Amino acid sequence: MTQRVRVCSTKDVEEEDVYRFDHADRTFAIYHGPDGSFYATDGYCTHEKAHLAEGIVDEFEIECPLHFGAFDYRTGDPTVAPVCIALKTYPVEVADSDVFILI
Ligand code: FES
Repeated sequence: MTQRVRVCSTKDVEEEDVYRFDHADRTFAIYHGPDGSFYATDGYCTHEKAHLAEGIVDEFEIECPLHFGAFDYRTGDPTVAPVCIALKTYPVEVADSDVFILI
């Protein structure tokens, strides 16, 4: 069953930045895109266990802090090696300046 979980306020994540969100033994990365929209993926890189919230956002890409692989965080698709397995993405909703993910 899908849960709607509040992550943060929209003000907590600047545009082209990423935010770590931990919930119920899971961890996520929440992105504020250059289009003003919010996006969510699993927190850990699919290559090894590096948290993407410690990486660098460039437009719609997140660069992993460990080996500098990258993903398109809108789709989860790998864009730069060594990552080759897609990241899981989650729907995001914004309501009254709060960001929610559907997990
Ligand atoms: Fe992310 Fe290696 S752990 S690229």
